[in-house]
Amino acid sequence: MVAAGSSNALGIHSQRQAANVVLAPCTAESGGATGGAQSIADPRRVSHYKAHGWMAVIAWGVLVPLAISNALSRHLIPVQGLWFQMHQGLNMLAIAMTIILFAIIVNELQKNTPEPNHFQPIDGAGALGKHKTIGLVVFILAILQGIGGLIRPHVPEGDEPKSSVRVFWEFAHKGSGVAILAMAWFQCDTGLRTYAANFGTDDYSDVFWGVAGTISAIGVIGGLSRFAMPPSAESSGGDHSPVPKEEAGEPAENGDGHSPVQKEEAEEAEDEYGIDT
Ligand code: HEM
Ligand code: HEM
Repeated sequence: MVAAGSSNALGIHSQRQAANVVLAPCTAESGGATGGAQSIADPRRVSHYKAHGWMAVIAWGVLVPLAISNALSRHLIPVQGLWFQMHQGLNMLAIAMTIILFAIIVNELQKNTPEPNHFQPIDGAGALGKHKTIGLVVFILAILQGIGGLIRPHVPEGDEPKSSVRVFWEFAHKGSGVAILAMAWFQCDTGLRTYAANFGTDDYSDVFWGVAGTISAIGVIGGLSRFAMPPSAESSGGDHSPVPKEEAGEPAENGDGHSPVQKEEAEEAEDEYGIDT
């Protein structure tokens, strides 16, 4: 077993593999002295690690925080239903990228490391050693979160109260969404630090935290601003209901609660933006 690293600090060795060493006196005849040095070629494709890392950082450091910030700040977005389009689109893109980045690294470890030990924690490496295991968990949960979003129970029309299934879904979707994001951030942090240690490059985990933290902080402030606004000032995009009450057929002048014009507008809005969230 041969292990080598880029510094004297204790950490995961960047090169680990089995090698045959001939134990013989160091003479010219046995390949020593004038025989030249033995070198171990590194078969790993750095480009695969870079692609894995970049996709992870963009998906979970930028796209998902933007998607959640959108949902939190929906009352500030003047276009009806746009927050939902963006939440869905950005998250689906992030999930697609997660599937690809997962496939790239599993394939890379399988082909270019002697003992891939897929998803096994590395003993003695602390948090960094858990990256491979938690990576599998994030991959599975992200896909389930996307499916859960697509098959959500819809908000009822008009003034009808939300079903208990919908209330439960909202609770579960929000809780699991934040939990997966936290795990993905752990992944990006440990991944960037492992990459820096393995390949002897700079550690960019601080930059990652700066970008993801800034986007998220803006989103949280946007979300909190809901409480500082008078109820009437919240824009049409701010309500959890599928369409603004007046568009969805709130008591109309004629008293039947569904003026034909208003109802038509509501249906058009739903068709155009798919806002039956
Ligand atoms: C959501 C984010 C991430 C996920 C889900 C993820 C997932 C994974 C998984 C599942 C593995 C192990 C594959 C296997 O055992 O076959 C792995 C390995 C690895 N990942 Fe990530 N990763 C993420 C972010 C990152 C980032 C940002 C980097 C930075 C370059 C990175 C660098 C690495 C490295 C260097 C390995 C190999 C570890 C080793 O050889 O011990 N990862 N990743
Ligand atoms: C990685 C994937 C996803 C994550 C991490 C995620 C996370 C979240 C979070 C944290 C919230 C709560 C925001 C708030 O408090 O206002 C939320 C809300 C919501 N998400 Fe997602 N989401 C994901 C994918 C999806 C998808 C694919 C859909 C639909 C196709 C979806 C539909 C919704 C809806 C409708 C709400 C609003 C729930 C409500 O009425 O409060 N999400 N999401």
